[in-house]
Amino acid sequence: MTKIAVFVSGNGSNLQAIIDAARQGELPAAIELVVSDRPGCYGLTRAQSAGIATLAFNPKDFKAKGHYEELIAKRLKELEVKYLVLAGYMRLVGSVLLERYPRRIINIHPSLLPLYPGKDGIGQALAAGASETGVTVHYVDEGIDTGPIIAQERVVIFPGEGRDSLEQRIHAAEHRLYPMILRQIFQEEKTWPGVR
Ligand code: GRF
Repeated sequence: MTKIAVFVSGNGSNLQAIIDAARQGELPAAIELVVSDRPGCYGLTRAQSAGIATLAFNPKDFKAKGHYEELIAKRLKELEVKYLVLAGYMRLVGSVLLERYPRRIINIHPSLLPLYPGKDGIGQALAAGASETGVTVHYVDEGIDTGPIIAQERVVIFPGEGRDSLEQRIHAAEHRLYPMILRQIFQEEKTWPGVR
């Protein structure tokens, strides 16, 4: 079992997909902690309902990103977490976590990166009048959705399609793709030479 922490800021439907996949034995991961920068968010409620430990903080209570990331890092170390899985975490990851988890922080974004990075990837695709968009799983670096791409899935935008419909189909793609790709990463890692 790979020990992971999932980072959320909102609804947490991707967190739920990961919880469900792990429960069903489809994802060889133990979710040790759910971290959130929004203390009241529904993702935390989902974690609590699943009996998963949580760490919530308000960034405004800290002078700098490094300060709350040190707190997170301490807890992650205690729990021996190996991978950080971002699932709707609306904050740039800073140097404290990036340096401690090189190539161990993964994110999902609702577009075919490098198109439509940052906030509201779905709205950006619609506003551009695009005929297709999709979902990207990638490693996290210091930029906004700029890290190396691991996997992508295309989603066609139907002519005249509204936001609700597209959003639903993108989320469905995310909930399929994310647990599957995480499983591949965790399984492959076991076969890499020299990896602990
Ligand atoms: C997803 O669309 C994800 O790609 C993006 O934020 C959204 C989070 O949704 N990074 P949820 O909180 O997992 O429901």
